[in-house]
This record gives sequence, structure tokens and C-alpha cells, in this order.
Amino acid sequence: EDGGPDPETYCGHGRGGMGEEVERKEDKRFITGRGNYVDDIKKPGMLHCEIVRSPHAHARIENIDGSRAEAMDSVVAVLTADDLLEHDLATMPTLMDDTQDVLVNDKVKFQSQEVAAVIAEDRYAAKDGAQKVEVEYDVLDPVVDAADALEKDAPLVRDELEDQEDNHIFDWDTGDKEATDAVFDDADVTVEEDMLYQRLHPAPIETCGAVADWDPGMDKMTVHMTSQAPHAHRTLFSQVSGIPEHKVRIVSPDVGGGFGNKVPIYPGYVVAAAASYVLEQPVKWIEERSENIQTTGFARDYDMTGELAATEDGIIEGVKVDVLANHGAYNAAAQPSKFPAGFFNIFTGSYDIEAAYGSLTAAFTNTAPGGVAYRCSFRVTEAVYLIERMVKVLADELEMDPAEIRRKNFIPSDAFPYESATGWNYDSGDYEKALDKALEMADYDHYREEQQRRIANDADKLIGIGISSFTEVVGAGPGKQCDIAGIEMFDSADLRVNPTGNAVLRVGVQTQGQGHETTFAQIVAEELGMDVDNITVEHGDTDTEPYGLGTYGSRSTPVAGAAAAVAARKVRDKAKSIAANELEAAEEDITWDRESGEFHVAGAPDRSITITEIAAGAYMNHPGDEEPGLEATNYYDPPEMTYPFGSYIVIVEIDRETGEVDFEKFVAVDDCGNRINPMIIEGQIHGGLAQGIGTAMLEKVTYDDNGNVTGGDFMNYLLPTANEIPNFETGHTVTPSPHHPIGAKGVGESPTVGSPPAIVNAVVDAMSHAGVSHVEMPMTPDVVWETLDEVGLSR
Ligand code: CDP
Repeated sequence: EDGGPDPETYCGHGRGGMGEEVERKEDKRFITGRGNYVDDIKKPGMLHCEIVRSPHAHARIENIDGSRAEAMDSVVAVLTADDLLEHDLATMPTLMDDTQDVLVNDKVKFQSQEVAAVIAEDRYAAKDGAQKVEVEYDVLDPVVDAADALEKDAPLVRDELEDQEDNHIFDWDTGDKEATDAVFDDADVTVEEDMLYQRLHPAPIETCGAVADWDPGMDKMTVHMTSQAPHAHRTLFSQVSGIPEHKVRIVSPDVGGGFGNKVPIYPGYVVAAAASYVLEQPVKWIEERSENIQTTGFARDYDMTGELAATEDGIIEGVKVDVLANHGAYNAAAQPSKFPAGFFNIFTGSYDIEAAYGSLTAAFTNTAPGGVAYRCSFRVTEAVYLIERMVKVLADELEMDPAEIRRKNFIPSDAFPYESATGWNYDSGDYEKALDKALEMADYDHYREEQQRRIANDADKLIGIGISSFTEVVGAGPGKQCDIAGIEMFDSADLRVNPTGNAVLRVGVQTQGQGHETTFAQIVAEELGMDVDNITVEHGDTDTEPYGLGTYGSRSTPVAGAAAAVAARKVRDKAKSIAANELEAAEEDITWDRESGEFHVAGAPDRSITITEIAAGAYMNHPGDEEPGLEATNYYDPPEMTYPFGSYIVIVEIDRETGEVDFEKFVAVDDCGNRINPMIIEGQIHGGLAQGIGTAMLEKVTYDDNGNVTGGDFMNYLLPTANEIPNFETGHTVTPSPHHPIGAKGVGESPTVGSPPAIVNAVVDAMSHAGVSHVEMPMTPDVVWETLDEVGLSR
């Protein structure tokens, strides 16, 4: 009766429960222009903040003169580190326990770092004022490349840190080195490949911003801000500012995309809050696009060397990987604190590999800090790229079909729960089924023949077929393993049914466009037999919502979705006692029928009552031995993570004359366990695949030797548009998570994680007959043409 993993339970009962394609509740306000984003918030007397940023990547500040700005009529104040020092706000902790300047105190460490702030009556005056602030810099040599940063005589990025004599941050390793070396020593075949997962910008449509409002009458600070984790930000904000937590309210209203970019705390938020505190007026700070790209948390920047050891017939026995990670000027990666390399050690992927070993070195450079989980679970993207690329490299070395070699090495479907060589406990999977479905949808055999025909005919356009059979890990906690700044990664739901039979569900996660107001209502509709239209979902306000750790790493469904189901079941249990009272029967004789959504007296099907009638009973005729009201709260600490998976097949056509890559076919088969809303899942997949195409084909944050960001705006940092996006063919299989209350796994990030290696594998596959084993991302036409030219395939 409780539901659970069995997909047969959830077959749609017409009330908008699990598995139904309910239209998104939130879209009415979005498509009619009634969304409420941070920049829509206007308060009486509100001032505006503009940040003065350093043009240099590495420089000591000799002097800051704000007098010309202060002399302007509309400028209210110019703030520097000295002003913040008075209030103990000159620095802030990063999520990896480093200390970052809010406004530069002594030395600039990356281009566009925050140097001063101008507060003015309107945004334009603030901007004009910022241009009048005069800063004298003593420019120093910068270092932007992680390998250069680790050279003996490299400029020291963090000279303010005691005991920091070089740019080395930490070393990390995982797995069994000795066992893995032994496997490699005895192997029939070994392969090795270097690959860079380039620095990316998560690029939400809405940049970061805040409206801070200190109320001296109430001694309360309210900050409306672009946050993926409002409660965690409230706790950190209270710790940094010294304002007691119950006097801090964080509101994250509508958020225009987060993708991991809105997990960290940025100096702009702190400056706005400090300015409001000092001036006792609300202060708004809204970032410009180039500020967002140049200074907020980047993703990836992992320079990796992968190795596989295998038998002659393609059984993978060992995997090794070595990584050099560029963390920028501060150690500000966003990941659970016990995982300095995130979930990178899931690099054995979907394969049953005996031995695995990975090592990583992280370095400071004069570049913006970051390492955020861009639409992924903390470096799982880099891990998936590594293993899925290496399997293709091995297949080519052994002249085996890449689908066949995967099939030989998959963790078998009857081996779950499965513990990997690096200690992950996979909950469930059926990788071969997903691959078979994708192969069929892609018409794989036909394209393999076509590929050979083109090679034989020396055709102008080559065909390449790329596969990625990825496994994901989503839904952090459990709290004992995963915490952010010490706070355990559980999540929460609070469900209150009103006397008239409708309900409000409040959740600890924060949506940024994923459709939670619809899908979380569907979970409650399913578990209580209510109509989905009668349930409102609220999120993002720390004064009203239960504490939660926020939305990133596709954790909403696995964690807060579970909390919503458990809270609804608690309400259902209480509803039984009210039903017994109303129907004048014993509570143990009351049963709930999922299909009708009604409560019955066992053996007397005509004696039934709906949840709406029960709600009235809870407030107007409650049983004497029960509290009045109908509500429940659940804080859910997941016992394990969930492991969604999929198989993507990409077929490309490459023009030998121009290096241009066209997508012939793009097939994505996903498995996220039981599905709440197939239409929303489809939308998630489409969006994520677009971002995967951006990654593989277009995007890279670049720096010149002086530390200038050369890809710091949308003219130079290329995002995919409708022109670059092909028609996606999506499919699915359903392998429920056995430990999740409704058998669901996360899905939002799967396409971004899974698709880049499929695309690169396809481009490599078009040229592998001529000896190409790798092409670096982004695979722009010039990069592809040069590769064609190197192996004599260009026209
Ligand atoms: O944490 P985030 O919302 O980014 O990721 P998610 O939990 O994977 O969910 C993304 C969207 O897909 C949400 O609206 C989910 O409710 C929905 N979803 C679903 O309908 N069925 C699933 N099994 C998983 C997610």
C-alpha cells in the first residue's frame, strides 16, 4: 500500500499523480511575464551597488581613491576592504574552507576580482561612480596554467597564507595502487590517453544578484538572492556576519537557471548586505553578464591522463587516472567537504573492473576560483568523460566494436547492489537493456555499413558513431558521508492539508526551472489521492520552509522527493484514524485504495471517504485521542545515493573540406527509475543535451598569458543556439531504485554528464581508421580540420 520501487504501482489514476504528463504549474507566470526574479524586487529607498573590478590578474593594490566618485550627487558611499574590516566582513569562507577576500585587501589574485564597491541612488549612477574610483596597482607576473603554477619559480598566488610556499593545494588519491599496478603489469594490452576537460562556465540566463535589507527596528537582515541553497546560505551568512541565524532571512525567489553557478557565496552578496547594514537602506546588486562569466564559479578544468589494462579479447581489468586540477585563486570548489575531488572516484563507470587507482593534484593559479558542480554531481562529469573516452580508445586498439566491448564489461543486471573497486554502492542498473534500445533506435548496423562505404569510396563526408553508456551518482547524502560546510546533506518536506481539502507542501530544495512546483505536487497527489491542482508547492524562503541543503547534483528528487513522499504517507496514516472516526469503524479496518484515492472500511466498499472529507474532519470533528489538524514533516537522510544511467548514441557527418561536424542522429536512452512526469523529464533531457553539445563543440573559458580572460563574454564564449541543436530521439527504460520511497532516481544532469563523451567518441570514430585516438573539446571546425589534416584526411 505504501508504493515503493515497483513501477506497476504507479500507473496513473487521472488525478495528476506519478507518471502523468501534468503541464507545468509554474509556466503560467513565466510565459505571461509574471515571474518574480531578484532583479524584479524593488523596495522603497533601495540603493544600487556596482563593483569596481581589477583589470589585472595579479597586482598589489597601492592606493584606492574614491573621492571623485563620492563627490557625485547620486553616489552615497564608496566601500573598500578597510570599511569591511571595521565590521569583520573583509573576508568570507569558501565552501572548501579557504578564505576569500570580499573586497581585495592587499593583492589582486585574478582578473576582475572585487576591489571596491560604489553605492548610489540608481544603477547608472553607481556604474558612473565605479568608473571614477582610481586604483593604483603594482602589477605582478601572473600564472594561469596549473602545470606552470607548480613549477619551482612560479609566481606565488597566495603569499598571504602562512606556510604556503608554492601553488600546490592538495594531493588526493583513491583505490588500490598496488593491486592496480599489478593488473597493469600482467595485462595483455594497455592503452593511455591524455585529455583535458576544459574550463566551462555554467551560464544561467539570469546572472547572480541580491537585494539586502537590514531592518534596524527588528534587527533583522533579509536577503533576496539568487541561491540554489537558501538555508545553507543563511547558516553561512549568520556565521560570517555575526547576525544570529533567527534574525537572517534568505529568500530565493524565481531563479533563472543555476547549474551549480548559484551554489557558492560570492563577494557581491556580502557587499550588498554590508552596505545595507551600514547605510540602513535596502541595497541591490545585480551582476552583468561578463562579471558572471569572469568571476563566478567555473566548472571542470581537469587535465587528465587515463589508462586501461585489458585482456586480448577486451575484458577490462584495471583503470588508472592521474589529474591536474586548476582551482583558480582560492580553493572554492563546491562539493561535500569529505570529497576534495567530488565524486570523481566513480570513474569505473558502468563496468565491472577488478582494480582501479586515481590520483589528483590541485593547484592555485591567477584565475577566478571555482570547481562547481555544473549540472552534475561533483566531478562525476569528468569521471564519465574519462571512462567513456578510454573505452573507445581501447576498442580501437583492439579493433573491436565499441558497443561489443561495453557489453562484455558491463556490471551484469543481476549483480546489484554492486560495490565498485573504489567503494561506491550502486543501487540498481540494467546497462545492456539501455544500450540495446539505443542501438536499435540509432539503426546502428546501417550506419556502421554506411561508414565503411564512405571510407571505401573516399567520400567527401565521413561518418562517425559515438557511444556513451554512462552511470551517474546522484542524491547526496547520506548525511554522515556528505556535508556542506559541516551541515549534513539531508532534505525536507512539510505538508499541511487545509480544512477545505487542499494542501501546501513546503520543501527544503530550491527550484531553478526544473518544474518542482509540478512534480512535487504530483508525488503528494499520488500518495494522498488528491488532485494535483489542489496542491501548492513552496520553496526558497528560509522563514517558512523547513531546513534543506538545496538543489544541485540532481538531488531534489532522490532526497526532497523522498521527504515529500514520506510526509504524505505520514498524513495518510493520520487520515486513517480520522476516516475511522468519520466512518465509525475501527482504524485497523480502514484501507486506502490507490486507484480511487479513497479510504474504505474493509469488506464494505460502499463505506468510503475521500481525503477532502477527511481534511474537514481533521479540523471540524477530530477524534478525541488525536491532535486536531492534518499535517506532517519529514527530514529525509537517504540511506544511499541513486545511480541513474543511460546509453547515448551520436552519429556525426564530418566535412573533410571544412572540418564542420553535423549531427545525423542523436539518440538518448535514459533510466531514472520510476518517472514522476515524463514530459518534464523529456525537457530536462533536451536541455542537458544542448549543454553537452555546447561542452563538446563550442565552450571554453580561455586566458592569455597575462591572465586576461579572453572568453569572458557571449561573443567569445559560445553557447549553443537552436542552430546547433539537432532533433533528439529520446527513449527510456525503468529500473527503480530499491531504497527510494517511490523508486525514483534523479535525472536532471544525466544528459550533460553523459553526452560529451558520446559526441567526442563520434568525431574520433569518423577518423579512427586513419589513426586518430582523441580530439580535445571544444571540437570547433578548425580543431577538427587540423586533426583531419594531420592524418591526411583533409580535402
Ligand atoms: O535536483 P534537480 O531538480 O535539478 O534534479 P532532479 O531531481 O533530477 O529533477 C529534475 C526534474 O525532473 C524535477 O522536476 C523532477 O521532479 C523530475 N523528475 C521526474 O519527473 N522523475 C524522476 N524519476 C526524476 C526527476
